[in-house]
Amino acid sequence: MEEQIKLVHEAIDASLPLSSSDAIEAFRIRFLGRKGTVSALFEQLGSVPKEQKGQVGKLLNELKIKAQSAIDSASAAENGKSLVIPKTDLTLPGTPIQFGRLHPLTVVLNEMIEIFRFLGFSVASGPELEHDWYNFEALNFEHDHPARDMQDTYFIDKDLLLRTHTSPVQIRVMENQKPPIRSIMPGRVYRNEAVSARSYCLFHQLEGLLIDKNVSFVDLKTILLAFAREFFGPQTKIKLRPSYFPFTEPSAEVDVSCHLCHGKGCRVCKHSGWLEILGCGMVDPNVLKAAKIDPEVYSGYAFGMGIDRIAMMRYGIDDIRLLWDNNLRFLQQF
Ligand code: DAH
Repeated sequence: MEEQIKLVHEAIDASLPLSSSDAIEAFRIRFLGRKGTVSALFEQLGSVPKEQKGQVGKLLNELKIKAQSAIDSASAAENGKSLVIPKTDLTLPGTPIQFGRLHPLTVVLNEMIEIFRFLGFSVASGPELEHDWYNFEALNFEHDHPARDMQDTYFIDKDLLLRTHTSPVQIRVMENQKPPIRSIMPGRVYRNEAVSARSYCLFHQLEGLLIDKNVSFVDLKTILLAFAREFFGPQTKIKLRPSYFPFTEPSAEVDVSCHLCHGKGCRVCKHSGWLEILGCGMVDPNVLKAAKIDPEVYSGYAFGMGIDRIAMMRYGIDDIRLLWDNNLRFLQQF
């Protein structure tokens, strides 16, 4: 029996190394399978004389362990081969995600829209390429009206132009909607002005229009005060100065008390304590007529504010060109 065991040891040694999974499986069947050599020797253990049993049993166990460990180490090497080692080091710390930010104009515009929505206004828009009729004529700017010179216009041809204000959207809204009307109309406007720290050839306005029966100047003042307090803070005061616009009568320009110095005077308000934020007035009957609304039945107010100017006041930005430069060092501050 011991002789047989020795032969099996030699057979095992001769079949090593096991260099493929097929070889490992064949080896397992040959030596440790149910009909394998080692198993067959274990079966013969019963017929071994009692006094030798202990010794033979021990040798057989050693044989079995040797075969099994040959299988184990060959299998481990085989698994290692198929292990995919990633090229990237997954333990490295990640690259931080760069979050985008809203442009200061977007921040300010969103806030304005939110306030006016709360006050019951819906949002409307109109084209930036506009007809003379909407931009001037329907707004009571007659052909040779000197007020046309207030706004240096980019004309495309005799009739088409880049709108110089958002007021033409008032006409479009009135054409498409029956009163009562309560709309705000934000958007881009264009003027042929020399670019400087204080003016740019395009900027943004937010127009407001309310048309209903029995609308008075008090309603206008009330809504503007509510807006100013919500936007600039609850202590804000407003001041209306008489002014002129062809499309409103009477007209006014509105100043708010400076939110930075609270009226004491500072760099942003140019030491006046006040900031001019918008133009407004009661819609001129001629404008209502141009939009086919009966001025005997309806009245209304309108206002228009410069979003860029207000954003600059809010954040103390002293050069309008910064809003267009796309300089990340500037934009990342908001
Ligand atoms: N459209 C005027 C401008 O661009 C601003 C304005 C003034 C709008 C009075 C209005 C208004 O609606 O009533 O300067």
